[in-house]
Amino acid sequence: MNSAANEFRKDFKIFSAPENKDLVYLDSAATTQRPDCVIEAVSDFYRTSNANPLRGLYSLSIKATDLYENSRKTVADFINAPDSSCLIFTRNTTESLNLVAYSYGMNSVNEGDEIVVSCMEHHSNILPWQMVCRAKKAKLVWLESSDDGVISKEEYEGKINSRTKIVAIAQVSNVFGITNPVSDIAAFAHRVGDNGKGAVVVVDGAQSSPHMKIDVQQLGADFFAMSGHKLCAPMGIGALYGRKDLLDAMPPFLSGGEMIEYVTRESATYAELPHKFEAGTVNAGDAVGFARAVKYLDEVGLENIERNDNNLAKIIMDGFSNIPHVHVIGNSDSAKHCGIVTFTIDGVHPHDIASILDTEHVAIRAGHHCAQPLMQKLGVGSTARASAYFYNTQDEAVRFVEKVSKIRGWMGFKD
Ligand code: ALA
Repeated sequence: MNSAANEFRKDFKIFSAPENKDLVYLDSAATTQRPDCVIEAVSDFYRTSNANPLRGLYSLSIKATDLYENSRKTVADFINAPDSSCLIFTRNTTESLNLVAYSYGMNSVNEGDEIVVSCMEHHSNILPWQMVCRAKKAKLVWLESSDDGVISKEEYEGKINSRTKIVAIAQVSNVFGITNPVSDIAAFAHRVGDNGKGAVVVVDGAQSSPHMKIDVQQLGADFFAMSGHKLCAPMGIGALYGRKDLLDAMPPFLSGGEMIEYVTRESATYAELPHKFEAGTVNAGDAVGFARAVKYLDEVGLENIERNDNNLAKIIMDGFSNIPHVHVIGNSDSAKHCGIVTFTIDGVHPHDIASILDTEHVAIRAGHHCAQPLMQKLGVGSTARASAYFYNTQDEAVRFVEKVSKIRGWMGFKD
């Protein structure tokens, strides 16, 4: 899809800006770039339709409300949520996961219960559950993976049991890029968890939703969290899908304006879904951008995105296999990386790798990737990570590999 990638690149002005002429942007797992259509959709909202949504009785506010609610429907359809009232707009995946932990976890987990997470979770899907476990005297149980990032059936069937109240798992790891067997895990957790009533399955979809077709119903997700900025939408807008019966029974996460039905001096009754969970003035402009972004991804085609990610990961991993001292973390199959290649170079600190590449106009991430428990398991403090998306070309992948092959030489190593 090299020529197609070049076509899509034209949609992203950042790549043709004079100051970015030589830029090879390989940090899309941290945040993607935005196509013009998304930037225009947000600008158009403010130029033509801005008023406080859900409040005004005048036409402009009604227009803003309609745009906001239509955006909700578009994002809900993108992940095949059964009903758009089950799609809550949040700031990002982190806020979505905290909403579930505070409103569901704190009200359903009891002493002696277990919450299962995996060894490859982002801190956003660890810390909220540590908090619930501490407060409720519950136990946090860890699913381990093999060195190539696979969580086996034996592993999850051995760790999920009748005491399991919640299973919280990333669909795609931001370090390995591997796709976890979430629908199998969910089916098992629903069968055996919570004394046969079924554990609740919380899916961190931050890294999966940009790369593959999501169907929350098929996945068996009781909750599914995602971030707009990982899939070409603005920063500061995300979403949480939740099963309607669970959301209906949960207390609000934040309280204040717009999430109420009636307030007295002593008490309040709450608005219906989804507004019960959207306190304060909503982020309508970015919701409109979010909806435009998922429509754009549908236009590009998620199957094309997946194919291109695999192709670029293959070029990078094949290239790395010929460079001594470069080690890829995780699976040897490039098709299991979602465009993410995490690596180390003997003798070179990952921060130096990223800084040296920056002088060559290549942008990658280095650090612990907000997954320190995984770094501890792997026995590394940090790693370098390249993450490709559909706007990256094969030429860029090749140039990146060439530059990586020279790093040790530039550092003064002789071999
Ligand atoms: N969670 C983002 C990443 O993996 C920031 O880079």
